Amino acid sequence: MSFQALDRQRRIFLQGVSGRRPEVPVDTEELAQLAERYTSTRGYAYLAGGAGRETTIERNRAAFSDWRIQPRMLRDVSEADTSTTLFGLRLPFPAVLSPIGVLSLAHPEADAAVARAAARVGTPYIFSNQADVPMETTAQLMGDQPSFFQLYWSKNRDLVASLVHRAEACGCRGIVLTLDTTMLGWRPRDLDLGYLPFLQGRGIAQYTSDPVFQRLMDEPLAEGTPPPRRRLTPQTIASVVELMRNYPDPFFRNLRSGRPLKAVRTFIATYTNPALNWADLSFLRELTRLPILLKGILHPDDARRAIDAGMDGIFVSNHGGRQVDGAVSSIEVLPLIAEAVDGRLPIVLDSGVRTGADLFKAIALGATAVGIGRPYAYGLAIAGADGVEAVLRNFWADFELIMRLSGLTRVDAAAFREQLLNARPSG
Ligand code: FNR
Repeated sequence: MSFQALDRQRRIFLQGVSGRRPEVPVDTEELAQLAERYTSTRGYAYLAGGAGRETTIERNRAAFSDWRIQPRMLRDVSEADTSTTLFGLRLPFPAVLSPIGVLSLAHPEADAAVARAAARVGTPYIFSNQADVPMETTAQLMGDQPSFFQLYWSKNRDLVASLVHRAEACGCRGIVLTLDTTMLGWRPRDLDLGYLPFLQGRGIAQYTSDPVFQRLMDEPLAEGTPPPRRRLTPQTIASVVELMRNYPDPFFRNLRSGRPLKAVRTFIATYTNPALNWADLSFLRELTRLPILLKGILHPDDARRAIDAGMDGIFVSNHGGRQVDGAVSSIEVLPLIAEAVDGRLPIVLDSGVRTGADLFKAIALGATAVGIGRPYAYGLAIAGADGVEAVLRNFWADFELIMRLSGLTRVDAAAFREQLLNARPSG
């Protein structure tokens, strides 16, 4: 039974009586706008930006509007249960926190604050491979609440194995292998600011805390394009200082050891692997008994192959429009993928999820849960852990009200589907 929606609504309105508006805006546009004020120009560009003209970011939203909910009346919705299960885990409402890298751009407590908020609400948190806080620390902050680890397949298999074994050791409930970022997308906002956070040592904490990565740092790098000679400008010095600060050891030891720079070089040389292909999956399958989800699936044939490859879950995503501008939105391909999967594996969907109605639509079209992305990073920017918690509770309350006001009292894909219409004019 869950009445958190009405409690939340009541609390917000009562605070309004004494002149207080929510610190974290409920409206997602306002949320993003306020987050922009709390972040640096570069930080916000990295969080909000996408590939190319960002048409896929737009499409991610527009495609949800192609579907309409058709509410039913007189059904006694005085009691309702928004919970669901994913890999045997109970989710208070059908959502997980999608992996987002470099959260220190939003807030200094970064992933640690998100972990605390996720644990308070009971929503599973997928730790990013590009986190600013090592997974052992975030896992501890989660207590016994569920977490997953998102893996990028690096050029070095020992590093892949080490990351996966660490995720197992710190109690993660599954591995989310992200497939769509074997290279960084073409992101004009970041390019025009000339800004890639990793070069200043941000977003590489899972690496610098890794014993295999530390060993790789001492090995000669494969021959590649030599880095351009940098002119010494005040900005170069600021970047170097930031790099020294972001590396785990004390500042002056870092200056002497030169390890922060080695870490960045080793990271750049190894972190993505454009050669990744279906044959590699058997390595991961043999490495761990944890459930493996493939993130970035947008085609039903890829979903079928994932099942053949012994995977445990499908994560339909276009990375929030950050990789292929003009790519299909995840919600528009979900029905085809759900048909191909035919209930054999759970499906998680992200990219453009902003409201409770989006959750309803995703479940109706075959997802077990959605991934919440940018909105929680914006909540983090505005109010740290409390901001993330507020965003999660708002999603939860909104979803609960959409469900009950539509005449439904529990998360039931078939019942949701019956009340969903495609609003796009056919032909
Ligand atoms: C991401 N995403 C992402 N995905 C992933 O697998 N590993 C990662 O490290 C990151 N990092 C990351 C950083 C930032 C700033 C963003 C916005 C996104 C993608 C993320 O998991 C998710 O797919 C998208 O955020 C979904 O799109 P929306 O709903 O946030 O627009």
